[in-house]
Parts: sequence; structure tokens; C-alpha cells
Amino acid sequence: MKKIAIAVLVLVAFTGSAFAADEISLPAKNGNVNFTHKKHQELLKDCKVCHEKAPGTIEGFGKDAAHKLCKGCHEVKKAGPVKCGECHKK
Ligand code: HEC
Ligand code: HEC
Ligand code: HEC
Repeated sequence: MKKIAIAVLVLVAFTGSAFAADEISLPAKNGNVNFTHKKHQELLKDCKVCHEKAPGTIEGFGKDAAHKLCKGCHEVKKAGPVKCGECHKK
């Protein structure tokens, strides 16, 4: 009985983390960007804001797409980082 309970717990923990990471480190030569994924999910509530098709890796995600998406929203909302060093941390 106890073993089953542990197995279920482990399964729940793994499914939870496989679904989406709380924080995602987006690699960039000029300093990786620590993206607070979970916080943004809770803040924006709609996955489609960033995942047009389906949740998961974003096709063609890179410098231009990121700056447009991330910085674009921060500028419009007047909240969130817009300066290079606020996102890119060495
Ligand atoms: C503010 C933008 C944004 C929002 C909103 C957002 N995501 Fe993401 N998500 C990203 C980015 C950026 C990545 C990394 C993409 C890459 O590496 O190609 C990502 C990656 C993922 C991944 C794959 C990596 C992982 O952690 O396993 C999953 C799954 C995911 N998102 C699910 C969701 C779901 C479900 C929602 C809605 C509840 C959501 N996302 C909302 C930006 C967002
Ligand atoms: C649709 C709007 C929107 C999008 C898209 C968005 N953000 Fe944000 N972001 C915000 C807002 C609003 C805040 C301010 C949250 C606060 O002050 O509590 C924020 C805050 C942040 C912060 C400051 C740390 C924190 O979590 O408070 C970082 C870093 C950040 N965003 C990175 C990103 C990156 C990287 C992307 C693109 C992958 C992105 N954001 C996309 C709205 C957005
Ligand atoms: C809102 C957060 C944010 C701000 C502000 C921001 N960036 Fe970025 N930048 C990113 C993200 C996210 C990526 C893409 C990382 C990836 O490909 O996963 C990126 C990618 C890059 C890359 C490509 C790095 C590589 O390894 O190819 C360069 C260069 C860059 N940014 C320079 C800048 C400069 C210069 C500024 C200021 C004028 C700036 N960024 C402001 C989030 C930001």
C-alpha cells in the first residue's frame, strides 16, 4: 500500500514538472535570460499569448522573436524589463 502511494506521488511530481518548468533559462551569448515561466502563466493566464499553436518549445524562437514578444509586451504594459541588462544576466 505504502509503495503504491509513493509511486503515485512520484508520478504526480514528474507529470507536474514535465508539463512546464517554473523557470526557464533562455540561452544567449550576452548573458542568459531567466524567464519566470510560471509567474508569466499566472500573470497572463492565456498560453496562446506566447504559444500560438501548442504549449511547448516555440518554433523559430530566438533573438528577434524574443525581443518582439517579451520586450514588446513589457513596453506596452509599462511593466517588466526593457533594458538589456535587466534580462541578460552574465
Ligand atoms: C509570456 C510567454 C509565455 C506564456 C504566457 C506561456 N509560455 Fe510556455 N514557454 C514560453 C517560452 C519562451 C518557452 C521556451 C520556448 C523554447 O525554448 O522554445 C516556453 C516553454 C514551454 C514548455 C516547454 C518547456 C517546459 O517547461 O517543459 C511548455 C510545456 C509550456 N511552455 C507550456 C505553457 C503553458 C501550458 C502555458 C499556459 C498556462 C504557457 N506555457 C504560457 C513562454 C510562455
Ligand atoms: C503579454 C505580456 C508579457 C509577455 C509576452 C512577456 N512578459 Fe515578462 N513580464 C510581464 C509583466 C507584466 C511583468 C511584470 C511583473 C511584475 O512586475 O510583477 C513581467 C516581468 C518580467 C521579468 C522580471 C522578473 C519577474 O518575473 O518579475 C522578466 C525577467 C521577464 N518578464 C521576462 C520575459 C521574457 C524573457 C519574456 C519572453 C519569453 C516575457 N517576459 C514575455 C509581461 C509579459
Ligand atoms: C525582455 C527581455 C530582454 C531584453 C530587455 C533584451 N533581451 Fe536580448 N534576448 C532576450 C531573449 C529571451 C533572447 C533569446 C534567447 C533564446 O534564443 O532563447 C535574447 C537574445 C539576444 C541576443 C542573441 C544572443 C545569442 O546568443 O544569439 C542578443 C545579441 C541580444 N538578445 C541582445 C540584446 C540587447 C543588446 C538588448 C538591449 C538593447 C537586449 N537584448 C534586450 C531577452 C531580452
